[in-house]
Amino acid sequence: MRVNAQHFRTIWPDPRCKFVEIIDQTRLPFAFETVRLASLEQMAHSIKAMQVRGAPLIGVAAAYGMALATLHDDSDEYLLQAGQELISTRPTAVNLRWAVQRMQAHLLALQPNQRNFAAWKEAARIAEEDVTQNKSIGQHGLKLIHQAYQNKTFNILTHCNAGWLATVDYGTALAPVYASHDAGLDVHVWVGETRPRNQGASLTAWELAQHGVPHTVITDNAGGHLMQQGCVDMVLLGADRVTRNGDVCNKIGTYLKALAAFDNHIPFYVAVPSPTIDWGITSVSEIEIEERHSDEVAYMQGLAGADTLQQVRVIPAESQAANPAFDVTPARLVTGIITERGVYAPQQLLQLI
Ligand code: MRU
Repeated sequence: MRVNAQHFRTIWPDPRCKFVEIIDQTRLPFAFETVRLASLEQMAHSIKAMQVRGAPLIGVAAAYGMALATLHDDSDEYLLQAGQELISTRPTAVNLRWAVQRMQAHLLALQPNQRNFAAWKEAARIAEEDVTQNKSIGQHGLKLIHQAYQNKTFNILTHCNAGWLATVDYGTALAPVYASHDAGLDVHVWVGETRPRNQGASLTAWELAQHGVPHTVITDNAGGHLMQQGCVDMVLLGADRVTRNGDVCNKIGTYLKALAAFDNHIPFYVAVPSPTIDWGITSVSEIEIEERHSDEVAYMQGLAGADTLQQVRVIPAESQAANPAFDVTPARLVTGIITERGVYAPQQLLQLI
C-alpha cells in the first residue's frame, strides 16, 4: 500500500537472504522508520515489542524468524527450540503458531543442508499467500458493501488495526474499505482509538489517511452512541483467532461493539484469512488471552511539541491497572465472516474445511 505515494509492504526479505526488514509500527504515526532484523532473537523481540503486530503479519514474521534461525543452525533440535521461542512471544493470534508449525513441518522433512534455502522460500510463499488472501477478502467485502450501498456515504465502524499494517499488504477488514474507495464508493470509516495501545488512532487512521479514505477517529466508548444515532451502516473488523463454531477472538473491546451492533440491528462482519481460523478449538476457554503490561494502561504515548515522543501517566500512582488484550465475541452476535473464499455465516464456517 502507499506511504507518501510509494508502495510498501510491512515486511520484506533481503534479496541475499541475510536479514529481514520491517516497518517499525511502534513509531507510527509520528515517524516512518524501517528496521533490519538479522537473527531469530531480533525477530522474536520485534514481535514481542509490537514493532510488527496484527495476526497475519506476526504469522509471516514468525515464518521469516524461522528462516533467520536457519542462518545460525539447521538442526532439528534448534529449529524446534526456535519455533517455541517464536510461539511464546504472543499467545493469542493463532497465525503465529500456524506459521511456525508449517515451517517446521516443511523444514524437518528435508536434509539439514537444504533447510536454509527452503526456509526463505517457504516464508516468502506464506507472505505471498497472505497478500492473495487479503486481496480476495477485499473483493468479497466490496460486493457486500456494494449490495448495502444506497448512493450516500456508507459508514463503517472498525476497531484496532486490521489494515495493511496488520498483514503483509491490503489488510483484512480494511481490504474491502480500500476496494470500495478505489471503486468510487463513498465510504467513511469511524476509527475506534483502541486503548490502551491506540492501534486505531495511530495505525488505522494513519493508513487510511495515506490512501485518502475519509475517516474520523472516535473514542472507544463512542461506538454504541453512533450506532444508536444511525451513523453506522456496518461494523467491520479483523480477528486474531476464530473458532470452528465462529466465535471471534479479537482486540479487547470488540465484544462491546458486537453487543451494541446487535442491539441496533447493524451488520457485524469479521474479515479473516483462513490461517486465522483455529479448527482445533472446541471451546473458547482454550484460547489464551494475552495479558499485557499494566504500564500500557497507566501511561499514554503521544507527540509533545513538534517531534518529541513522550509517555505521560494517566492514572494515580497508587492505582493498579489490568490489561487483558483480547476478548471473545460469541458467534451469535456475528453476522458474517469474510474469508478469501467468500462470506460465511458463523455456523457455515465448517464448509471451509
Ligand atoms: O495486539 P495487536 O495490535 O496485534 O492486535 C491486532 C488485532 O487485534 C487485529 O484486529 C487482528 O490481529 C486482526 S489483524 C488483520
